[in-house]
Amino acid sequence: MGKLRLAVLASGRGTNLQALIDAIAAGELEAEIAVIISNRRDAQALERGRKHQIPLCFLDPREYIDSDAYDRALVAVWQEYKVDLVVLAGFMRLLGPEAVRAYRNRIVNIHPSLLPSFPGLNAQAQAVAYGVRYSGCTVHFVDEGMDTGPIILQAVVPVKEDDNPETLAARILKEEHRLYPRAIQLFAEGRLEVVGRRVRIKDK
Ligand code: GAR
Repeated sequence: MGKLRLAVLASGRGTNLQALIDAIAAGELEAEIAVIISNRRDAQALERGRKHQIPLCFLDPREYIDSDAYDRALVAVWQEYKVDLVVLAGFMRLLGPEAVRAYRNRIVNIHPSLLPSFPGLNAQAQAVAYGVRYSGCTVHFVDEGMDTGPIILQAVVPVKEDDNPETLAARILKEEHRLYPRAIQLFAEGRLEVVGRRVRIKDK
């Protein structure tokens, strides 16, 4: 079997994308990024991909009549690039049921909280406002809900007395960069089995 082919979807600065690029270069992640897709023309993630000569695809939401049409375009790109795993890395759009169904248990997301706490936007600010002592990040399979799919890995970070959303986000982000390549490597090794809500990690 060839290397696991990834589509990385990103809307913003793309530091998680960079962590994947670096993990692949370091031999820690046995995969290749087949295509980077963004819904924003100016996403720094696209710039990072360009530097590494990775195929890029900008899909402009304004060119589609609704989000179903947009999702179909996404799936068409995944198919065109023969993608094995779709990796959401700061992709700030909810995927609709059609896309999720077409790639069931083959789409992963990273979220900057310990799910099911603080789903949705501004998870780090939600955690600070709530006053939790610990937060972290979660890698999970994507289902039809918002940040609700089966959990693959989580990492915990402390919340400090003087944290604000930015300082906490920075501490969490460091862990994201470690966690995401590890989770995808488990997928690459064929070690993830989804059983209902739970993900079993098989021994090597
Ligand atoms: C990351 O913190 C990621 O967890 C978060 O967006 C940031 C993207 O940063 N994703 C979500 O909040 C998804 N709901 P990056 O562009 O530098 O990788």
